[in-house]
Amino acid sequence: MNKYPKTEKYDQKWIEENWMGPNPLQLLEELSNNMKLLSNMKVLDMGCGRGLTSVFLAKEFGVTVFANDLWIDPTENLKRFEEAGVSDKVFPIRAEAHALPYAQGFFDAVISIDSYHYYGADEAYFPCTFSKLVKPGGQLGIVIPGIAKEFPDGYPPTHKSFWLKPETGDAGEMFSFHSSAWWRHLWEKTEIADITSCYDIPDPKGIWYPWAYWADQNFKIKFGLESDDVKFLDADTENQIALIAMTAVKRGK
Ligand SMILES: C[S@@+](CC[C@H](N)C(=O)[O-])C[C@H]1O[C@@H](n2cnc3c(N)ncnc32)[C@H](O)[C@@H]1O
Repeated sequence: MNKYPKTEKYDQKWIEENWMGPNPLQLLEELSNNMKLLSNMKVLDMGCGRGLTSVFLAKEFGVTVFANDLWIDPTENLKRFEEAGVSDKVFPIRAEAHALPYAQGFFDAVISIDSYHYYGADEAYFPCTFSKLVKPGGQLGIVIPGIAKEFPDGYPPTHKSFWLKPETGDAGEMFSFHSSAWWRHLWEKTEIADITSCYDIPDPKGIWYPWAYWADQNFKIKFGLESDDVKFLDADTENQIALIAMTAVKRGK
């Protein structure tokens, strides 16, 4: 049985033209199974990239979406939303995660696919910014890459070279990869929201490898960059790399 029937309806070529990591529609479909999204809701898609997930939210749930991203030009995203026939429901915005233009409590739900780890591993981000975006009773949902458990050095021994770049001495951005228990505690200890789900998505490599192979073939041609995702996943001989889904509901009335 296909685990992601909603995603199955979307053109694979369109997904590959616009994805920026492991299939964002599969990750959102997984997440949305733990949320209640209704057509009268306003939803923030934080770190929407090229807006695949924003289109999916509008089409599958009929919600109004604010498609917020930093790296991708909102005018490009608007074009994609027009082509997908959802520009009356999906509004592209460029804003940095710490300088968001939204009123507190404006949203019924906030979701973030493969983006929250870039800014949300900071202790203060959830209580001071992210949780304030939704009204009491509002839903919060993220999917992030992470690790199956915490390690004394911060990374699995099999992956040291990916976290630390010996050629430059730089620490990699993957120090924000953490376990599901770590993420749960980060939000739970604030007592602002109740966690409604938090787990490692089954078969993360089944979701991640197709993106990694695509990046291996296409990154150089499209962006002039090397991708090491295939090597990264191949190195994961102990199955310590995870894709984590977490949802919560904000307390209060
Ligand atoms: C790996 S991409 C994922 C994009 C999209 N969700 C997807 O899965 O295709 C991470 C996204 O997070 C966004 N992002 C990273 N840091 C950010 C920040 N400080 N503020 C807002 N967005 C940020 C980037 O603009 C980028 O599009």
